[in-house]
Amino acid sequence: MCGIVGYFGDLKATDVILNGLKKLEYRGYDSCGICYHNLNTDRFVTYKDKGRVKHLKHDFDYNGDNHFGIGHTRWATHGAPNHINSHPHSSQSGRFVIVHNGVIENYKELVAKYLSAVYFTSETDTEVIANLIEYFAVSYPVELAIRKALAMLEGSYALLIIDKLNPNIIYAGKNKSPLLLGLRNDGVCLASDLMAFVGVSSEYYVIEDKTFVKAEKVDNEYRFSMYDPIGIEFTPIRHEVSLNDDEINRGGYDHYMLKEICEQPSVIRKIMTNYIKDNRFHIKQDVLDLFANKKRIYILAAGTSMHAGFVGKINFETLTKIPTEVFIASEFAYNKPLLEKEAAFILISQSGETADLRACLVDINKMGYPSLTITNVKTSTLAREATNYLLIHAGPEIAVASTKAYVGQIAVLAILAYVLADNPKIDMIKEMSRLAVAMEAIIDKKEYIHDLVQSHLIKRNCFYIGRGIDYYTSLEAALKLKEISYIQTEGFAAGELKHGTIALIEEDVPVIAIITQRHINKNTRSNIQEVKSRGADVLVISTNDTSEPEDDIILMDVHDLLSPALAVIPTQLIAYYKALDMGKDIDKPRNLAKSVTVE
Ligand code: F6R
Repeated sequence: MCGIVGYFGDLKATDVILNGLKKLEYRGYDSCGICYHNLNTDRFVTYKDKGRVKHLKHDFDYNGDNHFGIGHTRWATHGAPNHINSHPHSSQSGRFVIVHNGVIENYKELVAKYLSAVYFTSETDTEVIANLIEYFAVSYPVELAIRKALAMLEGSYALLIIDKLNPNIIYAGKNKSPLLLGLRNDGVCLASDLMAFVGVSSEYYVIEDKTFVKAEKVDNEYRFSMYDPIGIEFTPIRHEVSLNDDEINRGGYDHYMLKEICEQPSVIRKIMTNYIKDNRFHIKQDVLDLFANKKRIYILAAGTSMHAGFVGKINFETLTKIPTEVFIASEFAYNKPLLEKEAAFILISQSGETADLRACLVDINKMGYPSLTITNVKTSTLAREATNYLLIHAGPEIAVASTKAYVGQIAVLAILAYVLADNPKIDMIKEMSRLAVAMEAIIDKKEYIHDLVQSHLIKRNCFYIGRGIDYYTSLEAALKLKEISYIQTEGFAAGELKHGTIALIEEDVPVIAIITQRHINKNTRSNIQEVKSRGADVLVISTNDTSEPEDDIILMDVHDLLSPALAVIPTQLIAYYKALDMGKDIDKPRNLAKSVTVE
């Protein structure tokens, strides 16, 4: 979702900003823009429009010295993606220019109370912020005016603000939406996520909610100051940028998605390395303490992470015997079930920034429940605000469609359940090593899967079916296919199809059945017959143990509890190759964002 980058330093600002925006593209966006100060003319220049960063970079003129500017990638919330609604936005006089990630909930009230005389050009809530600052700047010094305006905003925002009268300070404010500051001798950079700092800064600071920031040049030195909500300056904690260019490049693959699918065996091995101590799986004691004497576990997540949550539920209930429930975060936030008192919460989020989950976490913290975030991003909001966190060590996931983070989430949930179990009756180290090998074996057959995709008519309302844990894989498989190929696909409990939805099965409708569990093999096979006899084009994914000779994709046997991390791989490849053959924008599917920072 929206990405922001600001830079003030010795490097050419437009290079740093445009390269930074390019690295933030994976978050998802539909328009982009930049405003910078041209030193030669002493004028500010703004370029913005609907479309890609590469157009912003190549279709405009960045000649001339420049060292100060802000840029934005926009994922439309208020108003259509077009030139006018693209950021940066200016106040009516043009003095204040801002970029914004987030949603201001009370922008209409602010307009009614303070800005009824202002002529707004865009439909955005952002333009209201620029004008609110200008309104206060009439009576107060600029810094105070900005802080007064920020104090009135309700909702989420990461903001960079420039005052054209002083091209020596970038102001920033933040609430709920992420914002980081990177510092080096020759400049200060502000950005929505770490990716933008790769190659620019080796150290960074996380900006906390309601913090006000000034990045400026004082006595020939670039520096920043951060102030808490009551205006007291504080020194934030410094972090090292641990990413490098290799990790965020495509590494010879045509798409990040394929690279990330192929990285999954090494993600499993990396997780094992990080969680094995003295030849056994180890979880830090303060995390284990969160679950001591708990009668129930609640798992909250969205999308793919929720599908990992379903697999986690089966692991927890099988290994720890603690009843576990999974909820859609956006539902739980405003429609809570009756909660058990002795409970712990697990929040699963690749990005650690999903706004629906954050809304839940605020309530969970208020209610006093212990919480654990399972995430890929150590410095993320959900990692910082939960009682504790565990990392999935998947490395940066750049394709919008989540693949390696999903298997990482499953693996960490399985390790946690295993360590918490009294008598787990599974050799988890051996089983996970086998999983990594089985993953490699199916990835090696990717060209065969491409052929299968081409010979089956996956072109309209497709179905994935499965039972038990395979049903959860079906949900994830369907999401993957629909989000990147735009083919209407449903994941269905195999036995449920006949209770209505089978009406949609007719000649050549593709049905892909997943069977990794011996105890439901016969049942799912009966369901396959039901759809076959109505003309469905059936493709079966099974394991050595459950296979029949005519099955299409046969996986190595792995432990039942880990099978979703394996069975999902052919479905990821099916989605990838189908989207590839259809010429879709695989890494940046339409309408989607990687980091969903609005509710
Ligand atoms: C689908 C996908 C999404 C995310 C969901 C939650 O491929 O990636 O469904 O899983 O938006 O995001 P996180 O895990 O960052 O909370």
